[in-house]
Amino acid sequence: MNKTSDIIEDKDAKIFYNHQEKVPQHVGIIMDGNGRWAKKRNLPRTLGHRAGVNAIREVIKTASNIGVKYLTLYAFSTENWKRSTDEVSALMKLLIEYLKKEVSELHKNNVKINTIGDLTKFPKAVSAEIDRAKELTKNNEGLCVNIALNYGSRDEMVRCVKNIAEKLLSEALEMKDIDENLIKIHLDTGDCPDPDLLIRTSGEYRLSNFLLWQVAYTELWFSDVYWPDFTGAHLLEAIEDFKNRQRRYGGA
Ligand code: FPP
Repeated sequence: MNKTSDIIEDKDAKIFYNHQEKVPQHVGIIMDGNGRWAKKRNLPRTLGHRAGVNAIREVIKTASNIGVKYLTLYAFSTENWKRSTDEVSALMKLLIEYLKKEVSELHKNNVKINTIGDLTKFPKAVSAEIDRAKELTKNNEGLCVNIALNYGSRDEMVRCVKNIAEKLLSEALEMKDIDENLIKIHLDTGDCPDPDLLIRTSGEYRLSNFLLWQVAYTELWFSDVYWPDFTGAHLLEAIEDFKNRQRRYGGA
């Protein structure tokens, strides 16, 4: 019998959650559609990204409430540098503003902030703010939010191979040590479990260089909703569907 204390009611979705039920441990999200959301309203693209922050706030709250352990958000890809300088700098500003404004609330809620991706390419002001957020929340044991920044799966794999090759050359590792687990722990996601569920918004059906190694057996959920309109209730809808999937991992 379930204890009442294990059950959470999400009033928007009218769904009851039980922590012991099949809640995915790790959810990845490709937050897509900010530009189209803005265009539909005759607004600049940057206001679409700004509206996207509200969706991030909601999704973190819901994921945390229902006991998701890891949430990985694709915020800035290795390919996003190709956007206009204005848009790139607006995204950087938004990231700084978000961390400055919200990190203490996230910390209060026991959320741990982590990043994946190559942060060496970011301006000092951005990386300093990221470091502060990580340092403040590093001992939190609630939801771990991995923000993917200057992240691309192929770039991650190249960095991983270089890292392993260096260890081989310095004889810290031997050829026989190389196996799937060694590669896994040298990826940016380290010892974080692979995503159970991957969500992409805005009606696009692509992986766009996101967690390609890690999603080998991940369940996929595509939503037509533009990211700024994505709510906690949408996340719960995806999770409800996930709970009914049969995961066989290649077995019979
Ligand atoms: C994709 O929409 C979205 C992005 C490239 C950026 C995502 C960023 C945020 C949600 C806000 C900033 C993040 C943080 C962590 C504060 P798009 O611009 O490709 O939309 P489109 O396909 O409709 O043009």
